[in-house]
Amino acid sequence: MKIGFYDSGLGGIKTLKDIIDMGLKEEIYFLADEKNKPYGTKTPDEVKKIAFENVKRLVDLGCKIVVVACNTATSVAIQDLREKFPKIEIIGTEPAVKLAVKEHTNKKILVIATTVTVHGEKLHKLINSLDVEEKIELLATDKLVKLVEDENFTHNQKEVNQYICEFLEPYNLEEYSHIILGCTHFPIVKQNIQDIVNDYGIKVIDGNVGIGRNLLNKISEYKMANIKRKDESKLEIRIINTAPSKVFEKRTKEILQEISSENILFLEKIS
Ligand code: DGL
Repeated sequence: MKIGFYDSGLGGIKTLKDIIDMGLKEEIYFLADEKNKPYGTKTPDEVKKIAFENVKRLVDLGCKIVVVACNTATSVAIQDLREKFPKIEIIGTEPAVKLAVKEHTNKKILVIATTVTVHGEKLHKLINSLDVEEKIELLATDKLVKLVEDENFTHNQKEVNQYICEFLEPYNLEEYSHIILGCTHFPIVKQNIQDIVNDYGIKVIDGNVGIGRNLLNKISEYKMANIKRKDESKLEIRIINTAPSKVFEKRTKEILQEISSENILFLEKIS
């Protein structure tokens, strides 16, 4: 069964990897929109327009379920995407605020995300609906997307950690119980953040397991309704990049690590 994944770049690759680790084994089309990255500092209308084009491309390729593996695009476009493609199951990504609130600590929660997500109505509505406005602090950390996408990411750990310490500096971390990663690029540096805040007993969380559970359930439901014969799907990942580059290929292989390169195909030519 064809499943689409979409993000501005490497964040969605990490989401995909985490879900493969949970048992995903399908024909995956991953659209990395590196031509338009980063999304987080664009206008909501720009992000919405781009989201339509990219999801349409995945639908045209035959994907029955599309994971918008991007908080920024989800924040501004998910509702309209569902209206535009009513026959497609569209799974969005939102900061795991519910997960943190469920743990009922009386401490505060810091959500880090892109500028678009932090200012977006969707996140504010979610926080209001949970009645936790006074517990939540929101912070835009767009530079983290750039650092994560950097060709020399693995050698630039010092710079990454410096930036994390810099944006956390104004906060009294003793007062916080959780940091929520509200951008799919950030789980790539989850351990960096966790190491920095460990002494304060802060838990760093992301929403990838939730997205994974949701996706795996939808796949089972779809198969029960549509496939009569025994299903023997195997993992195949086809990657389309709107601005193909050697850097993206290298970093993607690093993130997908132990997945055999036989299962990964980069569809576009590098110019
Ligand atoms: N990965 C995306 C997100 O979850 C956006 C990163 C960007 O392009 O700014 O928000």
